[in-house]
Amino acid sequence: MSEGGKGMAESTRERLLGLLDANRDGFLSGEEIAQALGISRAAVWKAVNALRKEGYPIQAVTNRGYCLLTQADILSLQGVRKALGDTAQDMTIDVVQTVDSTNARIRALAQESGLTERVLIAGEQTQGRGRRGRSFFSPKDTGLYMSLLLRPSGCTMQQASRFTIMAAVAVCEAIEAISGEEAKIKWVNDIHVRGRKVCGILTEASFDIESGETAFVVLGIGVNVYPPPGGFPQELRKTAGALLDAVQHDARNRLAGEIIRRTLALCRHADFGQVARAYRARSLALGRDVMVLPEGRKAHVEDMDDACHLLVRYEDGERACLSYGEIRIQLEE
Ligand code: BTN
Repeated sequence: MSEGGKGMAESTRERLLGLLDANRDGFLSGEEIAQALGISRAAVWKAVNALRKEGYPIQAVTNRGYCLLTQADILSLQGVRKALGDTAQDMTIDVVQTVDSTNARIRALAQESGLTERVLIAGEQTQGRGRRGRSFFSPKDTGLYMSLLLRPSGCTMQQASRFTIMAAVAVCEAIEAISGEEAKIKWVNDIHVRGRKVCGILTEASFDIESGETAFVVLGIGVNVYPPPGGFPQELRKTAGALLDAVQHDARNRLAGEIIRRTLALCRHADFGQVARAYRARSLALGRDVMVLPEGRKAHVEDMDDACHLLVRYEDGERACLSYGEIRIQLEE
């Protein structure tokens, strides 16, 4: 689902989805749809079948027509736009069923599209990327995988790390707005709900060597919205969790809308000091004993500075300020 204008077939599909979505739980006859979209009834039937094959719960009843059932969480461009309201009207948003990695794809698009700010959302990633070269488990239909391409002006390499902090706070607020659950941050950018990691954030930036400023920043955000049908892979079972237990109407579209809206608001207008305080207030690490990776040294987190760097004291008494990296916390909750 694209706003890039990729031909007739796609726009019919989009318009049909929009029409069915606007009439959820009500029936529209093939004739009504054909008239509204200016296509033949055979074309309606073909488009409905294609959507059903993609997994859209569309009921077809003789003499009544077609009906999109309510209790469905279907990721769609219309759904995300509806959730966004007036926000991000100037941005291109693409919603695709599957992609290798939204971060990889949006970086490629950045080269092709002249670096226009845009968003790419996927319902599945076949090669989702995590931090430190790891993969990110991104199964079909149960998660939300998205990347925002931003072009901050006059942003130095040092300042680019602020985007991770702003995204983490924005995602926490979005999660709370959708689920009512309290969201916490495990430094630097894992989002935890009920003691489990439900979201990871991967920030990537490209720099202009001449100016030393960022050419663009990619914020990659992956949320485990529902439990995957076969459960999480063995290696994630102790740490990963899902935000919601059961399907909620349009939850992923609403969550995507909240994340985009709040991320743009913080990245474009917020006072970083204020965001840093919000980040600190949600921190799981403050005052805790942690393992600092990759060295594997035990440390106590004494404080967090204004840039959200961790101030730690190692077991041998040495103190350090950590500006990047990863920690492991024994989370007993
Ligand atoms: C982590 O927890 O290590 C970070 C995970 C980031 C995953 C997101 S999903 C959307 C975007 N595309 C990717 O390939 N990765 C990020």
